[in-house]
Amino acid sequence: MASKIVTFTLNGRETEVMVKPLTTLAKALREKLGFTATKCGCYEGNCGSCTVIVNGEPVLSCILPVEEVEGQNVLTLEGITPAEGLHPLQQAFHENFAIQCGFCSPGMLMVSKALLDKNPHPTQAEVAEAISGNLCRCTGYDPIIAAVLQVAAGSNGNQGGSHE
Ligand code: FES
Ligand code: FES
Repeated sequence: MASKIVTFTLNGRETEVMVKPLTTLAKALREKLGFTATKCGCYEGNCGSCTVIVNGEPVLSCILPVEEVEGQNVLTLEGITPAEGLHPLQQAFHENFAIQCGFCSPGMLMVSKALLDKNPHPTQAEVAEAISGNLCRCTGYDPIIAAVLQVAAGSNGNQGGSHE
């Protein structure tokens, strides 16, 4: 089948990618565009490691055809990472030992950012619910929840990072 060009906004910049039909967003990001912060653990929509934010909502990029983000606004971990230093969530994950092997971390950070953008002061239960679709085999989840709550406690209402 013929390849096509998909155009969307990626981390604030208009981006084009030429893909074969049904190429996933994760594959387009990682293999076509070189945005490798997004990780793929299962490729089946089960682990959450590939989570990115589309129009403010966390989505599983491993099961989303990139054609579906035509004209949409996609945010990846690269887009919230400042040119220098860390995003507040990255800093809090570091301080709370919420990153061990780190494979789940990009997805955890993006789902946490999506939560705090909508709900800057979530409860512990709301954080747990927000990350419930994201698997972590290392941390036992409590440090991740603590990190998100730490950011919420110090929230100034701007979790947007440097590229929004
Ligand atoms: S790689 Fe997408 S949910 Fe596991
Ligand atoms: S830190 Fe290893 S899977 Fe979460």
